[in-house]
Amino acid sequence: MSCLARAMAIFSSLYACLKRLKPAACSCLGRGSARKAAKEEAEDESSTDLFFDLRTLQDATSSFDEQNRLGHGGFGPVYKGLMPNGEEIAVKKLSLTSRQGMREFTNEVKLLLKIQHRNLVMLMGCCVEGPEKMLVYEYLSNRSLDCFLFVKEKSASLDWMTRFRIINGVARGLLYLHEEAPERIIHRDIKASNILLDDQLNPKISDFGLARLFPGDDTHLNTFKISGTHGYMAPEYAMRGYLSVKSDVFSYGVLVLEIVSGRKNHDSRLGAEKTDLLSYAWKLFQERKSLELVDSSLAKYNPDEAAMSIQLGLLCCQSSYADRPDMSAVHLMLSSDSFTLPRPGKPGLQGRTSRWTTTTTSAFTNTNASSTQTGATKVSTGSSLIEEYSRNSMSISSIDEGR
Ligand SMILES: Nc1ncnc2c1ncn2[C@@H]1O[C@H](COP(=O)(O)OP(=O)(O)OP(=O)(O)O)[C@@H](O)[C@H]1O
Ligand SMILES: [Mg+2]
Repeated sequence: MSCLARAMAIFSSLYACLKRLKPAACSCLGRGSARKAAKEEAEDESSTDLFFDLRTLQDATSSFDEQNRLGHGGFGPVYKGLMPNGEEIAVKKLSLTSRQGMREFTNEVKLLLKIQHRNLVMLMGCCVEGPEKMLVYEYLSNRSLDCFLFVKEKSASLDWMTRFRIINGVARGLLYLHEEAPERIIHRDIKASNILLDDQLNPKISDFGLARLFPGDDTHLNTFKISGTHGYMAPEYAMRGYLSVKSDVFSYGVLVLEIVSGRKNHDSRLGAEKTDLLSYAWKLFQERKSLELVDSSLAKYNPDEAAMSIQLGLLCCQSSYADRPDMSAVHLMLSSDSFTLPRPGKPGLQGRTSRWTTTTTSAFTNTNASSTQTGATKVSTGSSLIEEYSRNSMSISSIDEGR
């Protein structure tokens, strides 16, 4: 081999090594720089750096060993992985069959790479090799909120300040997804297991935009029902498939009530009166005994913030979606001391049609069949004029559902 050929061979193997190390190298830059780098990469259409080799992920997860399995959700199992530089990652194997081709899938991942906020879990890239499709995320050491909230021994480590910070952080993340992200994202699956906690117990919403990877496929909708997360779903979405930002607002309301009370939205062990969290919270609110809902494992809490959170949760869970606040109004209520919260109406309860079909507004007509079928992708597109209006809107009832 000539000197030149040898030099070329060394150069090309060095380049291959560096390329493989790139996602890891990114993480050494610190979060801000890493995100900036991810964004720049995503903007570069010719970039292939969003791809992880299957081999790299196999090595990181010990060939997807059961011991590294963090859980299994509606889209498939999630594994913890360790990169050669010591960085921890979470690999979500997508076991549902997407009807998307490689190009569409990659485009969606590129879009998701641009959706960045401190209250969202960072997507690092994906792996597409043969039939395998995977998403690679930053790993969050404290896993998800449900691991704390609903586990007696651990719920005490969530003091009131932390809980209120989580309520605020999730609102901030959702506001970003609905109003500030490059494309509007309706999450569709806000629940305690999709709120991950970093080492300081700051919340980060996970699994945003996943529905976009499965257009026209309502399998995940069925998995909600099967897996019992039905309790977070807005009645109009659960029963009729009507999807809007207000579906997320409803789920957020349920989550807020769970955070304050430290219990799941449905728990038959608590007796008939308390089984359904929404009905019970509504009953207590009407009897002016809201604070009885607060988790008894909390040694102390701020009663004003707790009462406000309960009222906010009930406002978000109202049966009529037009009456629910949008996330900018929620954010305003949470951040302003002087905001007087409106009185909530009855919460929407699943499986009881008469309770929630109380109002019909143009919002339903705007959410047409094709948007509900294709989920966030179709729903998120629309007139930029309306978008601008919506982004600046602080009004509680003026929502453009059909965007
Ligand atoms: N990035 C991550 N870092 C740490 N733990 C994670 C991460 N992503 C997921 N997990 C853990 O893995 C579990 C399974 O996640 P997964 O998203 O598959 O299921 P789920 O949230 O219960 O359901 P769904 O598919 O509806 O989101 C979660 O409950 C969480 O504890
Ligand atoms: Mg999840």
